[in-house]
Amino acid sequence: MTTQELAQKAMEMIKMAYAPYSHFRVGAAVECDDGTVYTGCNIENAAFTPTNCAERTAIFKAVSEGHLRFRRIAVAGETEDFTAPCGVCRQVMLEFSPDMEVLMVNRRGQVRAVSLRDLMPYGFDASGMENR
Ligand code: THU
Repeated sequence: MTTQELAQKAMEMIKMAYAPYSHFRVGAAVECDDGTVYTGCNIENAAFTPTNCAERTAIFKAVSEGHLRFRRIAVAGETEDFTAPCGVCRQVMLEFSPDMEVLMVNRRGQVRAVSLRDLMPYGFDASGMENR
């Protein structure tokens, strides 16, 4: 799948967002190492804390279907600015694929690519629990 196609899938998911509180709708599409793509949207909650970002929705759908390694994830917002993944989503990405790429997509379909390594320096992973 091309970068533009993955970005398009993320943009299409914006319409599925459940965001009655923030009105900030986000879509995502994650590409697994075998090329399979899972999509997601943000899902908010009246209690706020249970809110799930679009990226985690897509990743959790993939993991629940047996995919643990990812090449890229596209995250699309409706703003002129590029929507960057929150810290929780970066942590979830790090768990599965520290070398994956993040494609941020703005409302015009423009794409800014950045590596998770650059977004998440000195992150905590399983190696942090060794040598106790
Ligand atoms: N959100 C995402 O889904 N992904 C991001 O990368 C940034 C934030 C959602 C969470 C919440 O529903 C809304 O955007 C406002 O923070």
